Amino acid sequence: MKKYIVIGNPINHSLSPKIHNYWYKKTNIIASYEKRLLSKKDLPNIISELKKEKIQGVNVTVPFKRDIVNLVDELSPEAKKTKTVNTLYYSDKTVVGHNTDIAGFELAMRYCKFDIQNKNVFILGAGGVVPSIIYALKNMNVGKITISNRTKEKANQLCATYNDIEVVDWGKQINFDMIINATSIGLNNYEKIKIDFERIEKGKFFYDVIYNPAETQFLREARSYGHSTENGKMMFIYQAHQAFSVWHKIFPKIDEETINLIG
Ligand code: ATR
Repeated sequence: MKKYIVIGNPINHSLSPKIHNYWYKKTNIIASYEKRLLSKKDLPNIISELKKEKIQGVNVTVPFKRDIVNLVDELSPEAKKTKTVNTLYYSDKTVVGHNTDIAGFELAMRYCKFDIQNKNVFILGAGGVVPSIIYALKNMNVGKITISNRTKEKANQLCATYNDIEVVDWGKQINFDMIINATSIGLNNYEKIKIDFERIEKGKFFYDVIYNPAETQFLREARSYGHSTENGKMMFIYQAHQAFSVWHKIFPKIDEETINLIG
C-alpha cells in the first residue's frame, strides 16, 4: 500500500491525516497517511525512505520547512524562490521539494473574495509560512507589504529575497488594509497580540493563519470592532488539496463536508 506522512515537531495537532485519508475514501485510492514526530537529525532518513520507496510522499510542517530545502535533489520554482518546502515526492530517481502553501493562500483569498490588488498588507511573524504568503501576495499584485517580527533579524532576512518589503519593530502599529497573524500567538490562551483597536479605521481585513482554535483572540477582538475576519482553514485545505493532486494526479471535491471536517 502506498504510504504518505506529515512530519513536524510538534505534530499531534496536525489535521493532514484526517483530510488526506478522507479523500482516499472518497476517491477509492488505496493508501495510508500518518503523522510522524521527528527531530532535525532524522530528516536525511526521510529522504532515503522516499528513495527506497518505503514512502511515496511527505508533507513538511513546523519547524522543518526551511531545513528540508538543502536535503532534496531538486526544488520546484516556488520552493526555490521561497526557500521553503511543504511537499516532497519522488520521481525519475529524484526527490523533489515543492511548496503548496503559496497556492493554498492564493486560493483561500479567492475563496473569501478578498481582492489583494494594490492593498497595504501588514504581516505579523516571520516563520516558515511567511515566505509563501509574501510570494502569493506578490502574485496577486499587492500594493505594499510590511513585516513585524519579535526577532527583527528574521524579518530582515526575508528582505534579502524581497527587497521592497518594509520591516518595522515588534509592537509598532502601522496603517493597513489587511493584517495577517502568521505568528503562533493564539494557538493557546496564554499570549495575546497587542493591538490598539481604537487607532484602526473601520472596515479592515484581519486574517489569521491559525485555524484551530477557529477564532483566535486576534480575530475575535477584530470582529467585535466590526472588521472582516477569516481564519486559516481554507488555506490549510487548499494546500492539502494541491499536495494531493501532485501525488495522485486528481483533485478531489472540496465541498461542505470537507470543510466541516476541519471544524
Ligand atoms: P518557525 O519560526 O520555526 O518557522 P513558526 O511557528 O512558523 O515557527 O513561527 C513562529 C512565529 O511566531 C515566529 O515569527 C515567532 O517569532 P520569533 O521569530 O521571534 O520567534 C512568533 N512568535 C511565537 N511566539 C511569540 C511571542 N510570544 N511573541 C511574539 N512572537 C512570537
